[in-house]
Amino acid sequence: QATTLVPVPFDRGQRRKGVALGPQRLLDEGLAEQIKELGWDVDVKEEMKTMCDGVEDIDAKGGGDVDGMRNPSSVSSINEHLSTLLQQVHSSSRLPVTIGGDHSLAVATLTATLTHHPEAGILWIDAHADINSPSTTPSGNLHGCPVAFLLGLEGTNVPPFNGWVKPLLKPERIAYIGLRDLDSGERKVLKQLGIKCYTMHHVDRYGIGHVLEEALSYLGAPEKPIHLSFDVDALDPSVAPSTGTPVRGGLTFREGHYICERVWETGSLVAMDLVEVNPDLGAKREEDAKATVAVGCSLIRSALGEVLL
Ligand code: ARG
Ligand code: MN
Ligand code: MN
Ligand code: MN
Repeated sequence: QATTLVPVPFDRGQRRKGVALGPQRLLDEGLAEQIKELGWDVDVKEEMKTMCDGVEDIDAKGGGDVDGMRNPSSVSSINEHLSTLLQQVHSSSRLPVTIGGDHSLAVATLTATLTHHPEAGILWIDAHADINSPSTTPSGNLHGCPVAFLLGLEGTNVPPFNGWVKPLLKPERIAYIGLRDLDSGERKVLKQLGIKCYTMHHVDRYGIGHVLEEALSYLGAPEKPIHLSFDVDALDPSVAPSTGTPVRGGLTFREGHYICERVWETGSLVAMDLVEVNPDLGAKREEDAKATVAVGCSLIRSALGEVLL
């Protein structure tokens, strides 16, 4: 079994500096070696780094904020390149693990996965639904919008995205776990489309074991492939404090790892994202950053088959 780690130091889908440092911190922690230790053939594709260095110029040329969106030029062009790169990874039958960076990167990761595995179900672990469109977003931050673009929702058919992003995702092919902070436009569209949502209320009520079995069978695992998009802010801020939009009342350390372990156990995992680790944030900076980086690495290891016995 072979995997390719794709670090993407991109931060323009939101406002807080530091999330671009996330991927290097995970690599410095020894992530690649840890995964080798599990028996994987691991390589690291660093191509996105140089492009991410030039994002300011891309946005300057594109005119900065356009149509209620912040930095659409860099978000679109980084995603377009990332999607091409990830499609090469899928084509070579390796499992792509995209390490962010902010969650706007999911425009690319979902595009690549759904191009190569049209049947894939998306398991989205997050405090947020990231389903705002440029017309509903209260912040203009595109990390709050990737799902809307993949669904082709009203308001997403805008340049520069409409030059390449296709509505590859059907509303019945995504399930959320961990939700606890939704904007009013998001609530409306989640209800309207009947999208499967397990909020923290459901996790409390039924337990993570039950919730995850329902979500997996809803998505058709193990027959159908699974893409796991894990926003570290799904975890409680006491577990993952260094992230840009922390929300109290999140998943415990074990609940987060259990999700990854169980997805691995289905044998259906075809891609993973681990995003929104921001080592510059947290009240006790370095201590918080260390804990968050460590948890990011261990979530990825769990999804790649680290088991206790
Ligand atoms: N819903 C809010 C917004 O649209 C927050 C999104 C947070 N997203 C994330 N990937 N952390 O701005
Ligand atoms: Mn693949
Ligand atoms: Mn989030
Ligand atoms: Mn997110």
